[in-house]
Amino acid sequence: MHIHPEFHRFLNRHDKQVQLCQRGLVVWLCGLSGSGKSTIANAAERVLHEQGRVTVILDGDNLRSGLNADLGFNDEARMENVRRIAEVAKVFVSQGIITFVSAITPRGELRDLVRGILGEEDLFEVYVEASYTTCEQRDVKGLYAKAARGEIAHFTGKDGSFEPPQHPALVLNTETSSIEDAAFELIEAINGRIILDKSL
Ligand code: ADX
Repeated sequence: MHIHPEFHRFLNRHDKQVQLCQRGLVVWLCGLSGSGKSTIANAAERVLHEQGRVTVILDGDNLRSGLNADLGFNDEARMENVRRIAEVAKVFVSQGIITFVSAITPRGELRDLVRGILGEEDLFEVYVEASYTTCEQRDVKGLYAKAARGEIAHFTGKDGSFEPPQHPALVLNTETSSIEDAAFELIEAINGRIILDKSL
């Protein structure tokens, strides 16, 4: 109520994209904690940056220390977490920016929400696949050990569910691929989607 969104006076997406010589896209990486989402996003971003692309990373862990610091890990909180990230990603993509999101996004319902906010055209969904056992062995942040001791509630893959995406645009398995290879494969896969068609 009493809110008047005004978009028509602003420079539009086309203006931004022409200046950047690229098309905006949200590359949404989902997968278990420790599967390699942020590492792949980081590696892919560096390559694109070298190529002169304008990119940003929205990292679930990082955002949870600021924008989403008030949210926990039950179903409702994850829904709000993902909703906010998708809304921020929408702003970036509307500016023609290639936007990487790394967030567990553990359930189909959450990914449907993302798709609803961003739309099919602007979303490239990637499943970063690694088994719970592998992530537990890596345990970069020591969270799997804590979860095993029962110190973390709703831990994804343990007492919090993880439903692998049904039809991701790309699956990157970090048990069988190196980070470099996964990042390369990702860039190859999105190349056609980030090229600006100036006739549009
Ligand atoms: S999401 O499920 O809402 O998409 P998000 O990616 O933002 O999750 O945050 C996940 C990160 O929070 C993990 O990488 C981990 O570092 C931390 N974390 C803390 N508690 C949990 C938990 N219960 N389950 C999963 N990750 C947790």
